[in-house]
Amino acid sequence: MQVTLLKFSLKKHASISIIATDQISTKGGNTALFYGVKMTHDVSIPVQMRQLIDLLAQHNHAYYVMDQPTITDSEYDQLFQQLKALEAQYPEYLQADTPTDKVGGKALPKFENVTHVVPMLSLGNVFHQDDLFEFDRKVKERLPHQQVQYDVELKFDGLAISLWYEHGVLIRAVTRGDGETGELITENVKTIRNLPKVLCSTHQPVPELLEVRGEVLMPKAGFEKLNAQNAAKGEKLFANPRNAAAGSLRQLDPAIARSRPLAFYAYGIAQCQPHHEQSTMSASLAWLTQFGFAIGEQHFICDSIEEVQQRYDEINQLRAQLKVEIDGVVIKVDDLKQQQQLGFLSREPRWATAYKFPAVAALTTIENIDWQVGRTGTLTPVARLNPVAVGGVIVSNVTLHNIGEIHRLDVRIGDTVSVYRSGDVIPKVEKVWPEFRPQTALAVHLPEQCPVCDSPVVMPEGEALARCSGGLYCAAQRIEAIRHFVSRKALDIEGLGDRWVESLLHLDLLNNVADIYSLHQHREQLLSIEKMGEKSVQNLFDAIENSKKTTLAAFIYALGIRGVGETTARMLAQTFQTLDALQAADLEALKKTPDVGAITAEWIVDFFQAPHNLEVLQRLLAAGIHWDAPIAPTRQPLNGESWVITGTLSQMGRDQATQMLQALGARVSGSISSKTKCLVAGEKAGSKLEKAEKLGVSVMNETEFLALMAEYGQNL
Ligand code: IVH
Repeated sequence: MQVTLLKFSLKKHASISIIATDQISTKGGNTALFYGVKMTHDVSIPVQMRQLIDLLAQHNHAYYVMDQPTITDSEYDQLFQQLKALEAQYPEYLQADTPTDKVGGKALPKFENVTHVVPMLSLGNVFHQDDLFEFDRKVKERLPHQQVQYDVELKFDGLAISLWYEHGVLIRAVTRGDGETGELITENVKTIRNLPKVLCSTHQPVPELLEVRGEVLMPKAGFEKLNAQNAAKGEKLFANPRNAAAGSLRQLDPAIARSRPLAFYAYGIAQCQPHHEQSTMSASLAWLTQFGFAIGEQHFICDSIEEVQQRYDEINQLRAQLKVEIDGVVIKVDDLKQQQQLGFLSREPRWATAYKFPAVAALTTIENIDWQVGRTGTLTPVARLNPVAVGGVIVSNVTLHNIGEIHRLDVRIGDTVSVYRSGDVIPKVEKVWPEFRPQTALAVHLPEQCPVCDSPVVMPEGEALARCSGGLYCAAQRIEAIRHFVSRKALDIEGLGDRWVESLLHLDLLNNVADIYSLHQHREQLLSIEKMGEKSVQNLFDAIENSKKTTLAAFIYALGIRGVGETTARMLAQTFQTLDALQAADLEALKKTPDVGAITAEWIVDFFQAPHNLEVLQRLLAAGIHWDAPIAPTRQPLNGESWVITGTLSQMGRDQATQMLQALGARVSGSISSKTKCLVAGEKAGSKLEKAEKLGVSVMNETEFLALMAEYGQNL
């Protein structure tokens, strides 16, 4: 079989090599530009699709599992769009495991039962060092005069599943069930982003049959995010990552599973035909990683049981920093022949055991419930506990998320509760014990006024979160409001970074965003801040002065009205044309604006009704903030057109060019097609330019682009 090695690099990131085999047919000579990935003429469409799918899978792994994205969301989207465009053009080559297949498989009426060819056994448990040493003694008894090495792995706290691959393609995924028979959950499992749906390796042939065992779990970061989203929507919270993973896999509709940040970690091979050549457990796992399987972040080979104990202690210490939840370690005799010699005792292997960590839940009582105001104005109930040790850490506060969660748990001041904590997962009230409720227990109510600024607390219909309506005025929301106001897409005061903001808050010079424009009256005080010389103070003043000329859209965005992001702000500016008109708009008028729903409309009205906000607004305008009248939607000369920008622009960033085009009604896309109206090509434009020329799409250089923009009133 002939193998072609393609090497390409992803802009700004590591270079990636990909193997293409001649088994995949080639359709014509194609040139396509992926985001920063130049494909050569001899690369066939299916190979391009594979490369994109694999790249997307790698970035998903980095994002969802490692929580360390290696590319920006927009770069990811470009890769994604590129794949979608290829699929639209060549549906005959659609790959079974494409991530663009949003819906995934159909919802099932129920799960089918499947009998495991190789039963899924359980593990013995040890809890203390004595039991561990006893395990070692029994192993050695059966392996006289042999050296034994132990493989110490993380014991994932998730759900065991079995994956069945034929010729490298994932055919089915089955839960452990009772060990003999499990449920067929292939469609849900296919939505797990770090799990290879097709095996390919640059180093060895793919086995005809491979059955991999491992655990599905929800990494901690994803769990926190999911619960925060559910809290915001007033939906049920999951007690812990394990429940969240189990709940997600048990969904009959794979679309739900797809929306959950699940991950798969392999820990064993049940079958492999032809047999792999690895002689140890640790080598088998390393071998699996070559096919794209993730394995535990940590594992160790130990020469003695004392070393195993040491590693257990180390891992227990490290537990909080791990990306996934574990409830102990698994100790396995590393040598596979020795494993065979040891065999099984009823339903458990003699060659492995689980060494569990101590429990992580404890009972305590709720002393009080306070309401904290977050940086975006949300009111969060925090239970003050009678301090209690949970998993080695004293817990005295625990968030209850929102009033809905308080009602769901039916928690009252004075109640006895179970508090759960594991690793760095935030402590949580898992259960209320009504049987221990004292007669003096007090029900909890949402406060009517903000505990920080006394402004009314609002909770719009259908919303789960209560908020302070103080907005720009509320001290709790100050830092976030200032940060947002000065950010690049708002008033863009680059010099006013976090360090400045902190010092200025400390000096009481920044109570709200309007104070930014009075800072020049405090030159002496600013100079007194450590390390702030004449020059940095002057730079700051210049940046503030320059920010006064802005656009209405940027100003609306800068106000930080809830629900009003960059696009909504632009739509509002285009629709209402003046700040006065926007301020005067009623709910009905606001709802007619593209991008503005009923809730956002309400938030906008609330914002302009709060007297404190109006006061800040007046001061901002009095300070000289101004803008040119925006272009009315009727004057959007590029309405509906699709434009593409490529190469490096010397006078502006791509973001800025994109904004100009969008302001004129154009859509800015990441890929060229015959529908593209025009390509703006900067320096070092690569094959997008070639493709545009081939398709007869018109091309403009930067100077021509700027001239056209100026003609339409869009200036730098
Ligand atoms: S090996 C013959 N390795 O623990 C059984 N299991 O309590 C071999 N588990 O059902 C299992 N992490 O779901 C193994 N690194 C690991 C594991 C692990 C978690 C689970 C597995 C099993 C349960 C037994």
